[in-house]
Amino acid sequence: MRYGFFDDSKCEYVIIRPDTPLPWINYLGNEAFFGLISNTAGGYVFYRDARLRRLTRYRYNNVPLDTGGRYLYIRDDGSSGKDAPAGDYWSPSWQPTRHALENYACRHGLGYTVIGSTYGGIEAQTRYFVPLGEDLEIWQLTVTNHRDRPARLSVFSCVEFCLWDAWDDATNFQRNFNLGEVEVDASDDSRGVIYHKTEYRERRNHFAFFACSEPLAGFDTQRDAFLGPYAGWDSPEAVVRGRSSGSLVHGWAPIGSHHVRLALEPGETRQILFLLGYHENPDGQKFDPPGSQQINKHTVGPVLDRYLDAENVDAAFAALRAYWDDLREVLQVETPDVHTNRMVNIWNAYQCMVTFNMSRSASYFESGIGRGMGFRDSNQDLLGFVHMIPERARERILDLAATQLESGGAYHQYQPLTKRGNDAVGSGFNDDPHWLILAVAAYLKETGNWGILDERVPYDNRPGSEQPLYEHLQRSLRYTLDRLGPHGLPLIGRADWNDCLNLNTFSSTPGESFQTAVTKEGKTAESVFIAGLFVLAAKEMAAIARWRGLQQEAEGYEAQARTMEEAVHQHGWDGDWFLRAYDDRGQKIGSHECVEGKIFIEPQGICILAGIGVGSGADGGPANAERALASVDQHLATAHGIVLHQPAYTRYYLNLGEISSYPPGYKENAGIFCHTNPWIMIAEAISGHGDQAHNYYLRINPSAREEIGDVHRCEPYVYAQMIAGRDAPTHGEAKNSWLTGTAAWNYVAISQWILGMRPTFGGLQIAPVVPQDWPGFKATRIYRGVTYHISVERVGVGNAVALCVDGRAIESNVIPAPPKEQKTVLVQVALGRAGG
Ligand code: GLC
Ligand code: GLC
Repeated sequence: MRYGFFDDSKCEYVIIRPDTPLPWINYLGNEAFFGLISNTAGGYVFYRDARLRRLTRYRYNNVPLDTGGRYLYIRDDGSSGKDAPAGDYWSPSWQPTRHALENYACRHGLGYTVIGSTYGGIEAQTRYFVPLGEDLEIWQLTVTNHRDRPARLSVFSCVEFCLWDAWDDATNFQRNFNLGEVEVDASDDSRGVIYHKTEYRERRNHFAFFACSEPLAGFDTQRDAFLGPYAGWDSPEAVVRGRSSGSLVHGWAPIGSHHVRLALEPGETRQILFLLGYHENPDGQKFDPPGSQQINKHTVGPVLDRYLDAENVDAAFAALRAYWDDLREVLQVETPDVHTNRMVNIWNAYQCMVTFNMSRSASYFESGIGRGMGFRDSNQDLLGFVHMIPERARERILDLAATQLESGGAYHQYQPLTKRGNDAVGSGFNDDPHWLILAVAAYLKETGNWGILDERVPYDNRPGSEQPLYEHLQRSLRYTLDRLGPHGLPLIGRADWNDCLNLNTFSSTPGESFQTAVTKEGKTAESVFIAGLFVLAAKEMAAIARWRGLQQEAEGYEAQARTMEEAVHQHGWDGDWFLRAYDDRGQKIGSHECVEGKIFIEPQGICILAGIGVGSGADGGPANAERALASVDQHLATAHGIVLHQPAYTRYYLNLGEISSYPPGYKENAGIFCHTNPWIMIAEAISGHGDQAHNYYLRINPSAREEIGDVHRCEPYVYAQMIAGRDAPTHGEAKNSWLTGTAAWNYVAISQWILGMRPTFGGLQIAPVVPQDWPGFKATRIYRGVTYHISVERVGVGNAVALCVDGRAIESNVIPAPPKEQKTVLVQVALGRAGG
C-alpha cells in the first residue's frame, strides 16, 4: 500500500495521509542551522551541533509517536454555524490534535516541507524552510476561508525550547528546572518576538528567537501555563480557552507560543510568518543597555526585519530552489527505469547531501547526542557529494585528516562544533585510516585539484604537528602494515567496517560498549575485509604517487598491494568465497567450516572492488570473483536485498561480540545492511553482469519499494540503514532511515559503475554495465567545468564501448578534456558488439 506519491516534476514526495507507519521526515538547512521535520510537523532544530546547540526539544521514541515539534493550532472563535462549532480547534499538520482533516498533504521537497489541510472550510498550509546562509527557519502559514461567511479565528504557535545541551537538558533537572529565562517583545504592535535566553546571563552569547509577523493578541512562555496542569499538546488550555495567559517563564520549561487573531471574509487569504532562529552577539555587546541583563537586540533586528517581510521570504525560497537545481544539474540521467531516474536525479543525490551535513549525528533514530561525525562514515559519505560541492568536500577532508593520529590511526568520531576527536570513543578501528585515502582519491578524480595533497594538516588537531595531507595518506597505509597478524592479514582492532564484529572484546558485562570495552591486546584476530580495503587503498595511492611523478613510491605501493593480495589468496579464500576474518584464537570466521556465519557479504564486495580474484581463474575455470558472486547469489540474496551473512547467529558468542547480540535477521546479525549491497552491485558491474547489478540495485531502491509501504514502513524516498533479513519475523521491514553510508554507495554504484560515468584521475570515463534489454540512456554530467551531454545507444550484446566525442571517434573510453574555451561536449556511446 502507498501513503503518497512522487511528484518528480517538482522534486517532491507527496504524503496524502498523516498516519504513516513511522514519521516520514525531511531535513531543512544547508550550512549551520538545521531542522528535522516530519510529515506532521514534528521534529527539532539546532545550530551546527545537535547535542551542544539544540534550540527545541524533542522526545524520541515517545507516545503518541513523534511528539514535539513546530506546532500550530487554529481555533474557531466565531459563532457561525455548522462547519466548525465555535471553540473547536485543530492542527493543520494533524499532530498534535489529530483531528480528521480534509485534503491533508505533506510535500517534502529539497530543503523544504509544505504541510496543508482543510478543516471546517478553513484551509491552512505552512511552508517550512531555512533560507540559504541564515540561521533561522521560516514557517510561512497561509490561511484561506472557504466558507460562505466571515470567519473569526485564533492561531496559536508553539515550540518547546531546549536548554542548549540536549543531553543535559534531558537529564539534569535539579539544575535545569531553575534556569529557564526569556524576554518577550510584544511592544511593537507590528510583530511579536519571544527570545529564549537561558544561560545568556553567564557564559553564553547566543539566544534563540521565535518571531511572528502579526500583532499579538497574547503569548505564553511557560509550558504549564500554556498547557494547563496534566494536559498534553493535543489540548492546551490556552487553545481550548481561546486566550494566552502572557506567562513569563522562570525556570521549569520555557516555550514560545504566539496568539494571533484573524478575521477572514469569505474567500479571503492571509499569510502569517513565523521565524525560529539562532543569534550570537559579540562578547562585549551582549546587553542593552550595557550593564543590564537584557539582550542587545540591535544585531538581530535587521534579520527579523528582513524575514518578517513576505516578499523577502518568497525570494529566499526561490533562491533555495535554484540552489538545489544547480546541485542536481551536475548529474541528470534519463534511463528506461523510473526508479533509477528518480533516485539519481533527485532523492539519492539529496540524501547524499544530508549525510554530508549530518554524518550519523541527528535523525529520528540517532538522537544527536551520542555520535558526532564518524571518520569512516564521513569519508564514505564524501563519495556521494564531492561532485556537487567540491569546495566543501575539500574542507571536510581537511577536518577529518586533522583528527588523524600520528600513528596513522584515527579518532573514530569528532564533534562538529569543536572539530575535535571524541575521546570517549577513541580510536583503534583498524579500517578507519583507509577511507581517508578513498575520499581524497575521489576528490582528486572529480576535481583534478592536486594541490590539496600539499595542504598542511595537523595530527590530532595539535598545533605544530602539521604535515602535508599526502603524508597523512602515507601514514594511513603504514598503520596497517605496522599491524599485521599471523597470516599476514591486517589486525582487526576494535572492529572494522562492521562495528559489531568485536573479536577482541569478550564482553560478559551487561551494558558495556562492545566497541570500547576491548579486553584483549589483539595480536591475533585478523580481518580479510581490511585486507581488501588495504589493497584498494594501496592501488589508489600507487596511482596518486604516479601522477605526482613518484615512480618508485608507486611501485612500492603496488608491491604492498600484491603482497596483501597474495595473503588473501592464501589465507583469505575459503574455496567458494572470501573468508571474513580470523578470531582471537586464529579460528576462521565466515567459512564453510563454521557452524553459523559461514559466509559474509563484506569481503566478497570489497575484495572484488580491489580487483582481487578478478579475471580468469588459475585453473582456467571461473575466477574467484565469479565464484564469490555466485555464492552471494546462492546464500545471501533475498527479494528484499542481500543479507550480511548466513546462517545468522542464533546465540551470543563471546568471541564475536555485538554481532551475535542482535536477534537473527536484524542489524549486523544477518540483516540486509543496505550499505554493503552496492559493493556487490559494483562487483557485479566489474564482472560485467549488468542485469544482475541492476537487479540488486532495484531490490533495495526505496522508490521501487514504494508499493510495499506496509512492509517497508520507512520513507520511500530515502534509503534506510537496514532492512530486516530473512531470519527475522519482519523480513523486509526497513529501519533507521536517512543517515547511512547506503546513500553514498548506492549513488556511486548506479552512477559510476552501472551507468558507468566514472571520474578518473585522467578524466571522465564512460563504461556502462547496464541491463541487456535497455536500448540505451542519456545523461548530462558537469565535470571539471565542462558539461558533457552523453547519449548511450545499445548496438549489440555485452559492455564494449565505442566513443564518439563531438563527432570524432576516439580510441579510449576516457573522454579527453576539451580546449579551455569549450564548455560543452557531445559524447555518443555505442554499447555492445553487434552480433557479438
Ligand atoms: C553503522 C556505522 C558504520 C558501520 C556500520 C556497520 O552504519 O555508522 O560506521 O560501518 O554501522 O557496523
Ligand atoms: C551499534 C550498531 C551499529 C553502529 C554502532 C555505532 O553497534 O549496531 O550499526 O554502527 O552501534 O556505534
